[in-house]
Amino acid sequence: MYSEKVMEHFANPRNVGEIVNADGIGEVGNAKCGDIMKMYIKVENGIITDVRFKTFGCGAAIATSSMATELVMGKTIDEALKLTNKAVVEALEGLPGEKLHCSVLAEQAIKAAISDYYERAR
Ligand code: FES
Repeated sequence: MYSEKVMEHFANPRNVGEIVNADGIGEVGNAKCGDIMKMYIKVENGIITDVRFKTFGCGAAIATSSMATELVMGKTIDEALKLTNKAVVEALEGLPGEKLHCSVLAEQAIKAAISDYYERAR
């Protein structure tokens, strides 16, 4: 049902935790399954120098959070804003259809953290 990559990121998630003094924090949830994702970013000169997540959710939510952090780490804010759930799913070598919403949550959490960063920078 799950690709090896999903299982690997679920068993061994990257960038778990939180960032004290984060420059942006995004929290999103899915009302249907009740899962919650929280992302923290640190930004220097427009580049995401650190990103961490805390996810209270299913295995796919943990794997997609982990992959999303890997995909935006070291990227510019503009590049990170282009992250799509499709890119996360591709990097994980696929997800079952009923788990696609978990990847949507990961995309939304990154975008929420960036939007919080913009709010604070105002
Ligand atoms: Fe809802 Fe995975 S089942 S985020």
